[in-house]
Amino acid sequence: AARADQLQRGTVPAAPAKAIGDRLTILYGSQTGQAKRIATQLSARAEAAGLAVRLVRADSYPQRDLAKETHLVVVISTQGDAEPPDDARGLVEFILGKRAPRLPGLRYAVLGLGDSSYPEFCAIGRQLDARFAELGGSRLAPLGEADVDVDAVATPWTERAFEQARQALGTTQPAPRVTTLQPVPSRVTHQRDRPFAAAVLDNQSIVARDAGRDVRHLELSLEGSGLRYEPGDAVGVWPQNPAALVDQWLGLLKLDGEQVVYHDGKEWPLRRWLTHERELTRLSRPLIAAVADASGDQELAGVLRPDQSSRLTALLADLQPIDLWRRHPAAWSADELVAALRPQTPRLYSIASSQKAVGDEVHLTVAVIDYLAHGQRHWGAASSFLGASTDEHRLPVFIEENERFRLPKDDSRDVIMIGPGTGVAPFRAFVQERRETAARGRHWLFFGNRHFSSDFLYQIEWQAALRDGSLDRLELAFSRDGEAKVYVQQRIREQARDLYAWLQEGAHLYVCGDANHMAKDVHAALIEVAVSQGGQSHEQAREWLSGLLQQGRYARDVY
Ligand code: 2AM
Repeated sequence: AARADQLQRGTVPAAPAKAIGDRLTILYGSQTGQAKRIATQLSARAEAAGLAVRLVRADSYPQRDLAKETHLVVVISTQGDAEPPDDARGLVEFILGKRAPRLPGLRYAVLGLGDSSYPEFCAIGRQLDARFAELGGSRLAPLGEADVDVDAVATPWTERAFEQARQALGTTQPAPRVTTLQPVPSRVTHQRDRPFAAAVLDNQSIVARDAGRDVRHLELSLEGSGLRYEPGDAVGVWPQNPAALVDQWLGLLKLDGEQVVYHDGKEWPLRRWLTHERELTRLSRPLIAAVADASGDQELAGVLRPDQSSRLTALLADLQPIDLWRRHPAAWSADELVAALRPQTPRLYSIASSQKAVGDEVHLTVAVIDYLAHGQRHWGAASSFLGASTDEHRLPVFIEENERFRLPKDDSRDVIMIGPGTGVAPFRAFVQERRETAARGRHWLFFGNRHFSSDFLYQIEWQAALRDGSLDRLELAFSRDGEAKVYVQQRIREQARDLYAWLQEGAHLYVCGDANHMAKDVHAALIEVAVSQGGQSHEQAREWLSGLLQQGRYARDVY
């Protein structure tokens, strides 16, 4: 059990008797825990087959070891627009940079994880795979590119990489006869593939009726599940597509929801496939390719060409799958439709509560996605599912650990939290936790949203926290109350002196929310703070911030 525990935490030390060259090193870089999960499974599998394995998270890997590696597997995700996960930034920069050593003795395999609803799908995996070859390495297995339904690609890929590594390392033991990867046994009984059916204790709107969009506070019961979580962790939710959306599909394609469809060895009515098993709300490259193919539309096919990435980005941002089907009509049978659509995947919500404060409950902050576009109603799968849930429902959930987004172990450290919109959720958990543990450090929250009067999420709680001392400072940025937009990064600039002083004294800094705009703009504002207050050059300020990210003193939970 201790071993499994070590494996889970990614802290397995090198087997002392083995030189680096005799073992398989498995490196992972993970933002949401998927890359870690796959790497841990591969490691357990290889160890069971008698290989000496070293499993390391990218930020604990000594870069000088790279030149000595002979057998290396890298499992790494790509964030948003071609960014490495925060725990792998330093290593990726090193490998792609000028100081990387030649690697003529290296045999390697790279598994990239990504989301093909972004144009730069698996970019980091691809770059590393190409770079290792450029540095003289040879492939144990071709690059794997896993989409959000990770296991569809990851399971056969890891199997193949494992076989190659086993042969290359010449283990004398036969491979154990396992046809699919078994998850590492753990004390947790409910997980991604065995979710817990959580009762809904409370579901209420926390914005004014005229806010223009709904944000809900949900309280779920984990009683009897054995599930535990820490502030910073997320809840994974397996969504159900809205009935009205399934009806749109059936109507558009003139298909009968009761018709039975056989696929992947399963046999269900079409309505059930579309409600529970298929991704209907996120567009991806493979879907565009399938629709271009079925409709014979050359122009649509052209969007997938490498030189058309800006058109692809615009298309992915603008349309949901059904819009594409509407625009490029073709005859689809129920079987073809189910085969073309991707499997449903869980959505992650940052937890808004501390178990020390709420016991068996878990709280979520959910912005309900429901809007009109192109003359039709559109929904977000998980948010509309959660938003419409009542005390009669049970929701399939699991806990997704986020070990990079943790309160400081030392409770005298100050904490700076930047969380506009629903990005404020984990900070409600942080403040609850620090209150319950009577932490000595100070707490400073930056919150922003559209309007003070309608969108000040958890206003009463923050005011109570200011009074009872569990929050020391609160900076607010309501973007649509005045003539000009005000965002959290403007408050960061205004507070530059104190903010820099807090950081110099060892404060930990956290950012949660939108990855594509907010997190980048906040990062830029933090660089300005270091330039103006610390007298650093731009370059120095950038490195200083990268250093904080590496050390885990600047952590991001962005999506
Ligand atoms: P807006 O919608 O008025 O532009 C939560 O969504 C809050 O984040 C809103 O007030 C939103 O403002 C704001 N926001 C939008 N873009 C942002 C950015 N690039 N940086 C910081 N906040 C942003």
